[in-house]
Amino acid sequence: MVKPDGVQRALVGEVIRRFESKGFILVGLKMMQVSRELAEKHYEVHKERPFFGSLVEFIISAPVVAMVWEGDGVVSAARKIIGATNPLSAEPGTIRGDYGVNIGRNLIHGSDALETAAREISLWFSNDELANWEPTIKPWLYE
Ligand code: PPS
Repeated sequence: MVKPDGVQRALVGEVIRRFESKGFILVGLKMMQVSRELAEKHYEVHKERPFFGSLVEFIISAPVVAMVWEGDGVVSAARKIIGATNPLSAEPGTIRGDYGVNIGRNLIHGSDALETAAREISLWFSNDELANWEPTIKPWLYE
């Protein structure tokens, strides 16, 4: 999910470019104004943490762009493409490392495991919002 700061800073295209050019396949994409209910559910596991309230307020403050990407090892590769949670510690070359300076404005959320991705996809997308397709170049990306 490109968070409100990523959308406001016009980084949606850059985020998509990085995932597309790596070889991942876009199967879901939508811009949305997140409800408080969805934001609280999404970050449920962090509800006892001190930043929970401000994180929820931030996510609902302006539109986000939610995406589903498919491909071999996409969850762990996405974590690397995105970079460390705190942009100041994130390596140059990662999205957060290249574009962020503050942990509360770290531009993008990525699922941290396959099970989390499954939960988050069902929370954010209905089945008919997900495309079942294969790019014609797939044999040039995957053996
Ligand atoms: S991680 O990546 O899940 O291991 O990181 P974690 O430290 O557990 O953080 C969980 C989510 O909370 C966000 N976060 C914060 N937001 C605002 N302020 C502070 N201080 C803060 N610390 C952590 C962090 O970005 C994670 O959210 P997502 O949406 O996954 O980035």
